[in-house]
Amino acid sequence: MQWTRQLRYKPYQAWPTEYLKKIEKQAADSAYYPQFHIAPSSGLLNDPNGFSYFNGKWHVFYQAFPFGPVHGLKSWVHLISADLVNWKKLGPALLPDSKYDAQGVYSGSALQIGNRLFLMYTGNVRDQNWQRHPYQNGAWLDQNNHITKLASPLINQPQQTTDHFRDPQLIEKNGKYYVLIGSQDKKTLAGRINLFASDNLTDWKDLGYLNFSDDDLGYMIECPNLVTVDQQPVLIFCPQGLEHEILPYQNIYPNTYLIGSHVDLASATFNSQNSLALLDQGFDIYASQAFNAPDGQAYLISWLGLPEIEYPTDTENWAHCLSVVKRLTIKNHKLYQQPVADLQKLRQQEHQLTGQTTGQVEKILAAKTTNQYELKLKIPADQQGTLWLFRDPQKAEGLKIEFATGQAAKLLIDRSQTSQPFAKDYGQTRRVALNDNQPLQLDIFVDHSVCEIFVNQGEAVFSLRVFSSSLANKISLAGKRQINYNGSWWDLAKSC
Ligand code: FRU
Repeated sequence: MQWTRQLRYKPYQAWPTEYLKKIEKQAADSAYYPQFHIAPSSGLLNDPNGFSYFNGKWHVFYQAFPFGPVHGLKSWVHLISADLVNWKKLGPALLPDSKYDAQGVYSGSALQIGNRLFLMYTGNVRDQNWQRHPYQNGAWLDQNNHITKLASPLINQPQQTTDHFRDPQLIEKNGKYYVLIGSQDKKTLAGRINLFASDNLTDWKDLGYLNFSDDDLGYMIECPNLVTVDQQPVLIFCPQGLEHEILPYQNIYPNTYLIGSHVDLASATFNSQNSLALLDQGFDIYASQAFNAPDGQAYLISWLGLPEIEYPTDTENWAHCLSVVKRLTIKNHKLYQQPVADLQKLRQQEHQLTGQTTGQVEKILAAKTTNQYELKLKIPADQQGTLWLFRDPQKAEGLKIEFATGQAAKLLIDRSQTSQPFAKDYGQTRRVALNDNQPLQLDIFVDHSVCEIFVNQGEAVFSLRVFSSSLANKISLAGKRQINYNGSWWDLAKSC
């Protein structure tokens, strides 16, 4: 299909039901379709939106274009969960059906107010000359998951920004509402976060840009997100066009975070003694959204995809998925991310792994998986070798995880030998340095075409998509010298 602007923005009702059914079947039949990650029923999924806890359930929405694997007329699709693991899709929630969101219901957030959930999102509107007019809109979700949009926008584009003004995060602090909005400054064309305040959700005062960094953060900041982790404010965001001298990164756009020492929204200040860091070391992560649950914990969910990159499932008319939910903590001025504990509920049969490799021989740890499993593996200090996932019988392909736990300790992920490499322009390897002479603990989730690698209790995470051939379902380990290992792997049940 030639995805012209006309097709991308064709009204939802104008698409034939049979067409939608046909492409839904393509996704359902795909060997790459995830079974315990949130994925689109058809078409494209991007940012998580409105991640929240309300009415005794966890809620998340995602950005959707249901008609093809491209960015077009966006809406929100709603899911609920009792445990952050098993998700039930309730279906489309916010559709582009009003004058203030006619060309797309873009990203936003959710906040419980009274006994309802308030959704705040960007309405994307284009005029006849295709000039963009962004509106920050509101909607109420009641206890029956019924949504009512507000009749008029809450915030219009301010004078100081260009039309790149989107992704509101609504926060309540000391009885006052604040909204962080991703922006581009009109004069300098620099990426900023604009802040607004309100006492009543209706009248909003522009507090100007959040003062949080002296660095030049590129030309646009998308998806700003402020969350409290272990009593410290953490600002998560996606700077586009960030100089690599400020923060080395390889993906087209990074998803970054900054740990602060103090935040005062009333004066638009976020103080920090830390440097900007990458949220994830992997290939496919963007638009992450975190929030503080009633239990005070901070939970994070991410888009496992990136803008402007073609993915192998585009030919199957669906693209992308969300990450598992991760719990955030801070240790040694670093953000730690761990998969939520309830993911263990998905574990089926346990296969224990203890032993050592001999010489140069590649040792098969699992001869046949369904590529839907969790693998926990511990490697002692002073070892060097390669863990292969998605390994095929001919040893021609696989996801290569190289580790060294002695001197110059590191972990390197190489996806160049998988059967459908993609996004090659952005490099086929990602690496982190580890502390020398320490054991390595890996907790890895594989879901057909998804791989999330939690390193040393969440000190680093690599999130990536992998497209391998159907026989590439072994796990193996190899090294020049003997490697000792112990751990387990479990088949995981379907949860989405
Ligand atoms: C980030 C983003 C947001 C926007 C949404 C549109 O991926 O570009 O800035 O609101 O996606 O789908």
